[in-house]
Amino acid sequence: MLIQRNPNGIDLPYPSEITPREVYEERRRFLARIAASAAVGTSLWEMANREAFAQNAAQRLAASANPALSTKEPQTAFKDATHYNNFYEFGTDKSDPAENAHTLRTRPWTVTIDGEVKKPLTLDIDRLLKLAPLEERIYRLRCVEGWSMVIPWVGYSLSNLLKQVEPTGNARYVEFTTLNDRSQMPGLRSPVLDWPYVEGLRMDEAMHPLTLLTLGMYGQVLPNQNGAPVRLVVPWKYGFKSAKSIVRIRLTSRQPRTAWNDSAPNEYGFYSNVNPNVDHPRWSQASERRIGEDGFFKPKRKTLMFNGYDQVASLYSGMDLKKFF
Ligand code: MTE
Repeated sequence: MLIQRNPNGIDLPYPSEITPREVYEERRRFLARIAASAAVGTSLWEMANREAFAQNAAQRLAASANPALSTKEPQTAFKDATHYNNFYEFGTDKSDPAENAHTLRTRPWTVTIDGEVKKPLTLDIDRLLKLAPLEERIYRLRCVEGWSMVIPWVGYSLSNLLKQVEPTGNARYVEFTTLNDRSQMPGLRSPVLDWPYVEGLRMDEAMHPLTLLTLGMYGQVLPNQNGAPVRLVVPWKYGFKSAKSIVRIRLTSRQPRTAWNDSAPNEYGFYSNVNPNVDHPRWSQASERRIGEDGFFKPKRKTLMFNGYDQVASLYSGMDLKKFF
């Protein structure tokens, strides 16, 4: 079911399939093959293997490379990027999301874009996947905890989506809200944050071409633990600004509250740009450990201003980034 909100606020249904055509067609072929294999004696093990391969193929997400916005640094191993995660809705240990996020139901899924807009929309995930051409962008991700990764994301600039809803003249900020469903997210029972997980950007940050509405990574749809089916990636900010499993994008005239700023305002500011000159109150931000480069003698890397994405510097000209950290 795909829903679009028309300007009068009435939900209009679009014909759509929750299960993509390739998947259900492959399932039908699989059942037909099982019936046929009973006759020729093909082993069930072999059939199951082929089915697993077909399902894997259904997860693939084709995208064209965007070398201009990609780093050439070596990519983090897929295993590390999917087993060393922060997704507190599934637990606070790095290994918890990979272990627990299988309970997240990523279809059907809708994202509502509303607030200070002329054309509010509710889009289903299939529609989001087709809203703009998918690009692969290899970004550095720097976590506020002092580690970093290099990940080939798949998505398109968030600006493509924001233009569709026609922001009003009052739209100055964008708030991102994550799914808040205890039946799917066991970590919500813990009061570690004031749920739901919310994050925010200034409108010009949200409209910057680097800000990626992300639907996949490593050439496939997002694994649940990485924020399926749709998340944000803002590569010049600490990783916590990149909200996962987004259900609502609201344009506002006032700076929205954010989950981490609420929990510790002196530690996590609204801007949270990667900045080696502004330490976290409890540790230095001058250097980082690249995941996969472990080892006692491996020196840490120097952290770069804006995580090396100098093209965003003009967004902050004249601002005291020690005050607006
Ligand atoms: N989004 C939600 N909904 N919940 C979270 O706990 N953690 C953030 C961010 N987005 C988080 C979230 C943090 S602290 C980081 S570093 C990144 O996701 C980690 O993304 P990754 O696990 O894909 O590397």
